Amino acid sequence: MANNEDIFKKVISHAKEYGFVFPSSEIYDGLSAVYDYGQYGSELKKNIREYWWKAMVQFNENIVGIDAAIFMHPTVWKASGHVDAFNDPLIDNKDSKKRYRADVLVEDYIAKIEDKINKEVEKAAKRFGEAFDKEQFVSTNPRVVEYKAKMDAIGHRLYSSLEKNDLADVKSLIEELEIACPVSGSRNWTEVRQFNLMFATQMGSTAEGADTIFLRPETAQGIFVNFTNVMKTGRMKIPFGIAQTGKAFRNEIVARQFIFRMREFEQMEMQFFIKPGEEMNWYNHWKNERMKWHLSLGIPANKYRFHDHEKLAHYANAAADIEFEFPFGFKELEGIHSRTDFDLNAHQKFSGKKLQYFDPETNESYVPYVVETSIGLDRTFLAVLSHAYTEEKLEDGSERVVLKIPPILSPIKVAILPLVKKDGLPEKAREIFDRLKVDYMCQYDEKDAIGRRYRRQDAIGTPFCITLDYDTLNDNTVTIRERDSMLQQRIPIEKINEILNGKLKQFQT
Ligand code: GAP
Repeated sequence: MANNEDIFKKVISHAKEYGFVFPSSEIYDGLSAVYDYGQYGSELKKNIREYWWKAMVQFNENIVGIDAAIFMHPTVWKASGHVDAFNDPLIDNKDSKKRYRADVLVEDYIAKIEDKINKEVEKAAKRFGEAFDKEQFVSTNPRVVEYKAKMDAIGHRLYSSLEKNDLADVKSLIEELEIACPVSGSRNWTEVRQFNLMFATQMGSTAEGADTIFLRPETAQGIFVNFTNVMKTGRMKIPFGIAQTGKAFRNEIVARQFIFRMREFEQMEMQFFIKPGEEMNWYNHWKNERMKWHLSLGIPANKYRFHDHEKLAHYANAAADIEFEFPFGFKELEGIHSRTDFDLNAHQKFSGKKLQYFDPETNESYVPYVVETSIGLDRTFLAVLSHAYTEEKLEDGSERVVLKIPPILSPIKVAILPLVKKDGLPEKAREIFDRLKVDYMCQYDEKDAIGRRYRRQDAIGTPFCITLDYDTLNDNTVTIRERDSMLQQRIPIEKINEILNGKLKQFQT
């Protein structure tokens, strides 16, 4: 069986071969950590965005959506803390001249200890068979307990040094752990220093008159600066939320793992404005709601887990990630943050404008607290795609690659396939295609044998194929084939819409 690394490589090449994701500017050899979405990828991405928007905005009366500009007044980023604190700690290896995130070097070291624990657990599970109690083993086995204590101690030291901005200690930690450069193998490191992740550019026509502005590193600030606009024009009452989806930009140093960490990516964020003091209830509420959303896609629960943060961002008093098990392990997919009144307060201070809510019940004004849900669209795409990628051996000995994408997200919902391209079948198929395309993304295909056409649709994750044969011309029935089970059913043409509607609704939240 292929290992996870092989599977990941296959997912990446499948994504390219079938028009989901291409390297950016590929004819010029690409641009690091920047990708383009192809004809099917852009559909899948749009469907994920819509699925999120529906769950957050359409299904919640007290959440509205906006679409703020990417360019914002430069003071926004001073107020938000991004100019001063949106940094990664960097370290260079003097021999290979390669640059690394110092925290990632230490985290990779911790991950190696975790691998050792997992190996111990695997060995013990084999040894003890059915009687194996993982919890007990992990909490009592001396070697595992020692590994865990080591992990905790290293993690604690790293995060508290970062918190205090004690970069010399981060370097000492790297030296003490004898971490070597993966390229040169040497431990000849520079000092650790902070590197701001925002991209800067010039706005204005002449160099002298131009202002330095930043490409937004998160969409959230577009929501904060529009808080009063939306509250007043929407007559919003606390608690209420403002959602938006859009591009964000970060000059990531460790750019790897395909579309997991990109320099230009898309976020889907929601800021929920609440009364101070109620943040822990809302924080837990949104943790649960967001996990429910992920599970509504039908991906098994054991692929997700919460990770509560030890190191908090400069604006948060509580934070958790929803992690997904990507082919390269559990990694952050979404963040839920209790952001306090940090942002609104800061914008009040820097802009001189009041950003407050007047509570008609108590006749008092206050700066609301905020609980944020922030999910990467590209990461969700990668989660869906990597989970969907399936290689199957069929009963007749042949093999197929099928993308078992949740039907509601599939780029093409239904393919219309005349068995042969003569005797009036294509005309009849086109009639059905023209009718269905009003409601669904459809594809018409008459080329090659029917088996090959099914494989092509499997490979792009089309959940349903409608096949017309000679009987269709006599009795107005077609065959509907379901992607995952490959089961085929004969149905009347006039029932196609009803059946598709039923099948495509089943995953909705
Ligand atoms: N407004 C809060 C915020 O931006 P974050 O944890 O930095 O929080 C939120 O980012 C989400 O955005 C992440 O959980 C991840 O899914 C996505 N994300 C962040 N950086 C990314 C990158 N370089 N490439 C792709 N997705 C990214």
